[in-house]
Amino acid sequence: MERIKSLDILSPAPEACEMPRISLEEDRGNRRKLYIESYGCQMNFSDSEIVTAILQEQGFDTTSDFHKADVILLNTCAIRENAELKVRNRLKHLTGIKRTRPGTLIGVLGCMAERLKAKFLEEEKIVDMVVGPDAYRDLPKLIEEAEDGGKAINVFLSREETYADITPVRLNSNGVTAFISIMRGCDNMCSFCVVPFTRGRERSRDAGSILLEAEDLFARGFREVTLLGQNVDSYRWTAPDGSETVNFAGLLERVAGVHPDLRVRFSTSHPKDITDEVLHTMARFDNICKYIHLPAQSGNTRVLELMNRTYTRAWYLERVAAIRRILGEECGISTDMIAGFCSETEAEHADTLSLMESVQYDFAYMFAYSERPNTPAAKKLKDDVSEEVKKRRLNEIIALQNRLSLRRNQLDLHKVHKVLIEGTSKRSEEHLFGRNSANKVVVFPKGDLRKGQYVHVYVTNCTGATLMGEVAE
Ligand code: SAH
Ligand code: SF4
Ligand code: F3S
Repeated sequence: MERIKSLDILSPAPEACEMPRISLEEDRGNRRKLYIESYGCQMNFSDSEIVTAILQEQGFDTTSDFHKADVILLNTCAIRENAELKVRNRLKHLTGIKRTRPGTLIGVLGCMAERLKAKFLEEEKIVDMVVGPDAYRDLPKLIEEAEDGGKAINVFLSREETYADITPVRLNSNGVTAFISIMRGCDNMCSFCVVPFTRGRERSRDAGSILLEAEDLFARGFREVTLLGQNVDSYRWTAPDGSETVNFAGLLERVAGVHPDLRVRFSTSHPKDITDEVLHTMARFDNICKYIHLPAQSGNTRVLELMNRTYTRAWYLERVAAIRRILGEECGISTDMIAGFCSETEAEHADTLSLMESVQYDFAYMFAYSERPNTPAAKKLKDDVSEEVKKRRLNEIIALQNRLSLRRNQLDLHKVHKVLIEGTSKRSEEHLFGRNSANKVVVFPKGDLRKGQYVHVYVTNCTGATLMGEVAE
């Protein structure tokens, strides 16, 4: 298993998800139907909402049944080999539709489109369109080209595109929580990572447009926004007239100021860039959630250097100490870890385990290293840890994290937590679920409560993945 995940938890981190997200039925009486299926991280899910907005303008309604679709889009992820294999298998499955409805267009969007470019059209003959993450405004034209029988491709990466003016169509929405993309691309060059190649240069979105989006969501009943970027701490936007520059702490403050009942989350923080200013801003606002996803990747300084993460184990631990100093023990901290990176020794792997013990993570996404073509690691380092050893180390990391998650959740017992209700528990119709500030899933009896409300829950019981309790008022 590549990663573990509780049923109720929706990935807070930009990373590859087990399950794709599928567009729901939305019939506005339009003639043409769009089916869009999304893989990968929250950025990709957020992009699919932008794509849907662009195509809705062109007279498309969404459908949850690809058999009814005129256009089928797969928004793909390239982060690990497995992620790509999943998409290729799915494409094979979709070929069938061309036999019964030959006019159906199939397009590949996102990171895999960017990685493989025209090769995709040669390798996967059923694909009609290949569209990179910065080319979605071009989709109407590309669909026209494909309808005329051509093979349509645009994988141009932009230095400016942020889709700031497009109001996303919320897909799979619970009506309570929503993502807001605040930046695109990544300028870090972590040696294992394809993202800088698939998403291009880092650019920050107009702060005013982010604020408008948050205000609009609040007015429509949403009660939580998650600000998304590969490295939110390097958010920096300067007004075109040079009158102001907004950094991430400044942006957080503004979004938190929209309304005290609008919760603010963000992902992902980079250990090299997260500042005390951001931590102090979090401390000042009750509605900025006390939860930080701070991927370490490894607990060993030599491996971190090979990964080009540009921080050491000591630096990372100092940042965690700052979080504890400024935000206290209750702040949730999660991580991403990679097992078996190039030349990692047993002792270096043990450093990862000991870092996890020191930090006491609430949650982690854990992966076996998967070499990606053309990344700095693929070019310069040897993928020399055997699959068997990678798997064993990964299992050790997972087993430890399971113990840590349980231990951290036990600290939440017999306390009252403020929970934003997101919906009915997937395990029981009689229970609702929501999250506390630290991003823990809390399940409690339904009573006459509704999603979108805040409720105080006294926690009586827990597993490693979920807190259970009773309404406290
Ligand atoms: N921007 C985020 C991560 C985005 S990718 C950050 O800097 O933390 C999500 C996670 O996928 C990464 O944190 C890393 O743990 C994992 N990952 C990325 N490339 C990988 C690879 N080649 N093999 C295994 N895991 C990888
Ligand atoms: Fe990849 Fe590193 Fe950028 Fe994260 S910060 S997206 S791991 S290059
Ligand atoms: Fe996200 Fe996967 Fe691309 S994790 S940025 S969709 S490679």
